[in-house]
Amino acid sequence: MKAVEEILKTLTLEEKASLCSGGSVWFTKEIKGKDIPEVMMTDGPHGLRKQLGTSDILGINASVEATCFPSAAAVCNSWDEELIYEIGQALGKECQAEEVSVLLGPGANIKRSPLCGRNFEYFSEDPFLSSNMAKSHINGVQSQGVGTSLKHFAVNNQETRRLTVDAVVEERALREIYLASFETAIKEAKPWTIMTAYNQVNGEHCSENHHLLKEILRDEWGYEGVVISDWGAANNQIEGMKETFDIRMPYGGEKFNEQIVQAVKNGELDEKILDDTVRRILKLVKKGIESHKEGSTYDQKAHHALALRAAAESAVLLKNDEEVLPLSEKEKIAVIGGFAKNIRFQGGGSSHINPTCLKNLLTAYEELKPDVQLTFARGFRLKKDIIDEDFVTEALECVKDADKVVLCLGLPYGWESEGYDREKMSLPDNQIDMIHRLAKSGKPVIALLFTGAPVEMPWIDEVDAIFAMYTAGQAVSEAIIKIIYGEINPCGKLAETYPVQMEDTPCSLNYPQKEKAVYEEGIFVGYRYYEKKKRDVLFTFGHGLSYTSWKYSNLKLDKESMEDTEDLTVMVDITNTGERCGKEIVQLYVSDNESEVSKPIKELKGFKKVSCLPGETKTVTFKLNKRSFAYYNTKINDWYVEDGIYEILIGASSADIRLSKQVAVKSTTPIKKVFTEKSVMCEIVEHPAAAKLLEQVMGGLAASDMTPEEAKAALNDEENNVDIGIDLQATSMDMPIGKMVEMSGGMFTDELLQEILKIVNS
Ligand code: BGC
Repeated sequence: MKAVEEILKTLTLEEKASLCSGGSVWFTKEIKGKDIPEVMMTDGPHGLRKQLGTSDILGINASVEATCFPSAAAVCNSWDEELIYEIGQALGKECQAEEVSVLLGPGANIKRSPLCGRNFEYFSEDPFLSSNMAKSHINGVQSQGVGTSLKHFAVNNQETRRLTVDAVVEERALREIYLASFETAIKEAKPWTIMTAYNQVNGEHCSENHHLLKEILRDEWGYEGVVISDWGAANNQIEGMKETFDIRMPYGGEKFNEQIVQAVKNGELDEKILDDTVRRILKLVKKGIESHKEGSTYDQKAHHALALRAAAESAVLLKNDEEVLPLSEKEKIAVIGGFAKNIRFQGGGSSHINPTCLKNLLTAYEELKPDVQLTFARGFRLKKDIIDEDFVTEALECVKDADKVVLCLGLPYGWESEGYDREKMSLPDNQIDMIHRLAKSGKPVIALLFTGAPVEMPWIDEVDAIFAMYTAGQAVSEAIIKIIYGEINPCGKLAETYPVQMEDTPCSLNYPQKEKAVYEEGIFVGYRYYEKKKRDVLFTFGHGLSYTSWKYSNLKLDKESMEDTEDLTVMVDITNTGERCGKEIVQLYVSDNESEVSKPIKELKGFKKVSCLPGETKTVTFKLNKRSFAYYNTKINDWYVEDGIYEILIGASSADIRLSKQVAVKSTTPIKKVFTEKSVMCEIVEHPAAAKLLEQVMGGLAASDMTPEEAKAALNDEENNVDIGIDLQATSMDMPIGKMVEMSGGMFTDELLQEILKIVNS
């Protein structure tokens, strides 16, 4: 392909406009005579969904075989940036082999509610964790010369009415939670493309949102790649282009291109804007074409093995009473639940992958544990939530001679998908009934949970162990065998909180909404909410058990005080005190309990996964910077660190803090306050000279028949306790100072107001 500028010069207005839409469902527009080939952009994110025949965006029609890795919700529980990078590399290789230039993913939307139908495709409730995992995914894919499309930008947190709903979010929550989940990934991994979400944010659709696209993405974050729409998410394309939006996907007919031509002709759209868009698109196409490795292949077996390791390292052991796990091969096992046969390994919608290999749990048992004595029963119906007594009888018969029960629970296919949200947070009733019945059998029950998001567990005490498997990809069955028999020591931890019940969740009162979704909980999402509200939860953010045990010691900070422009190095020793090799996810939280603004109790600002042999100690090092201590200050429209003492907390989960140390941080950003007649009195009195002047006048106001001096003396006179009716000091402190002129009966003059403002502003 020729140089971009050279091609651009030769294009007619019509040709340029035609590049601003897809050429078809999955391709960019090709212009043969002008040396512009097409490149393929297809789903994504945790496997390749390349359709050969009829195309659709909902995962209905068949696609080529590809490795189905654990979805984002699962793999995020590994907290393993190297692992997700490796998965990214493998995805990139599969894209190369299938001649795909851009893989549509990853998705970095925040899990605002456990009910969002698409949570299985998203990483976390925490933006720091989410953005870093997305970054590694992108780096991995792009290391292979294949682009990504970080999606769905932004604030796409419900599927209900996703094409029209307006997410109303205040700026601080937008920056600290919803955009922060994209920010690191965008700035540090530079995805080739970014996909705008369907919804509106604060009244404007994402594809034409001035604040999101122009102000933040381009101007502040310096993003130079291509902004594409989610399939069907572009609305007023001309307005979008003015905000630097680039490609309308998929191809939706000539009328959209004609609109662009007309807009340029009638002066509504500056042709320079169109040229910039076309430049970005041509650069993308050129990059795609030039990084394509002709004749690429990939090793299916190696990718399956990677999918297996990823599934095992992402599984979270939620509870393990009396060390019922790991199992021994000598134990007789009853496997209950239809999921053992119809293994649930992915969610529904556009991310639906056609796996290269898929074994159910029973087959995996046969292959990997041929000597284990095994019985199986379906336990409950999967398609209809009705209690079928035949299924129940069969299950109870099946467990009779078993030593332990492996119970496969989960959300049936179709319960979690893009396009709609879950209606409730519980498992189907027939599964809960099965739990009760099995509990009565007295056999230890190991529950395997196949869900893409948390479920309520009123039955938790009736089972002995629980593994949250999530949607763990095509090798999930083999991974289960390895972890329940202890060949791989579980090392996943939850990337989201498991609330006790739906009503406890931060937005339960207004989720989902059909028109305006007002994000009333602000920055208090996930553990930020539960901790602040002191709500009990089922499992905390960052929780996950292991078959070994860990000691945390020797927390060191490289300084006790610092300016916010300096970095802080934090070191801590982790020792494996058990008898098995294992991996521990060490979490660093920062807490600032004295603040002018409302803040979460603590926030995740670092994490590392370490691997240790029994008895081994490793030192883990974290680097913190300004952002680790900052909140988004809407008065200065920037990240701001308050002066103060910050607590550095090192934990095995958000609730299991093992060590802490303090550091004093000083701000280097002076905030110049400008006082006006609208400034409230309590801010004015912070200035000593103004306070003095005011004190005199206040004294006078308190008792107007006294001189100011007499009045002041009377106010302070404890002995004689002069009654002036109300606590004037207290009532006036929240009043704008300008109001004093109006309300003081002439004692507080305009001249005095100006004098005071002069003093405080000087
Ligand atoms: C989804 C996107 C997906 C696109 C193309 C849309 O419905 O929201 O995530 O990449 O379809 O399949």
